[in-house]
Amino acid sequence: MKFHILTLFPDMVDTCLHASILGRAEKGGHLSFHSVNIRDYTADKHKKVDDYTYGGGAGMLMQAQPVYDAWLAVHRGAGREKIRTVYVTPQGRTFTQELARELAGEEELIFLCGHYEGIDERVLEEVVTDSVSIGDYVLTGGELPAMVMIDAIARLVPGVLHNGSSAKTESFENGLLEYPQYSRPFVWHGKEVPPVLLSGNHRLIEEWRCQQSLLRTKERRPDLYEAYTKEKQE
Ligand code: ADE
Repeated sequence: MKFHILTLFPDMVDTCLHASILGRAEKGGHLSFHSVNIRDYTADKHKKVDDYTYGGGAGMLMQAQPVYDAWLAVHRGAGREKIRTVYVTPQGRTFTQELARELAGEEELIFLCGHYEGIDERVLEEVVTDSVSIGDYVLTGGELPAMVMIDAIARLVPGVLHNGSSAKTESFENGLLEYPQYSRPFVWHGKEVPPVLLSGNHRLIEEWRCQQSLLRTKERRPDLYEAYTKEKQE
């Protein structure tokens, strides 16, 4: 799967994406990352990419021209109809595991990262297919939220995680939080591992994990628990 990231800070993005599990998956040919510096596409002789907002107000806005030309360069290169273009913004719909799964089904995605007060609305109207937020708080730019989304999407691409089953049992996959887990030693700070996990009885272990998953979700995320029980009743 290929990710194009349109940004004014490509170094920020590159450092993060080429490291760790994503970097390994890129070397293995499962993922590819292409950061594009929007500033390289400005027609302004001083390399300016922002200007004051019409109507007044605080801060500067990213102008339509450099954003559009950067997007067009990626799009033309891809030679296809329309690559889904995600605008990373606090005004978007909230990113979820479900949306991560949906986007992981695409062959290619473009992420558009804003800065300053945002981006001229006219270019957004022409290129954006999905406006997405990572939560109800405001960050200084779109790069960190884009990294969060790319990480969540990329790890669902086949071959990226070596342990295929871990993505299936983890939190949110079935609408619940994951059960607690333990490793050696059996006793740590006077606390024992729940004995059922040493029983070797897979049915009992499965039941215990399911019960723990429900309890944990009810306690920590009553909203998820309610949605889960409602769906089970239908
Ligand atoms: N840009 C600034 N804040 C953001 C957020 N919460 N989600 C997505 N993009 C953002």
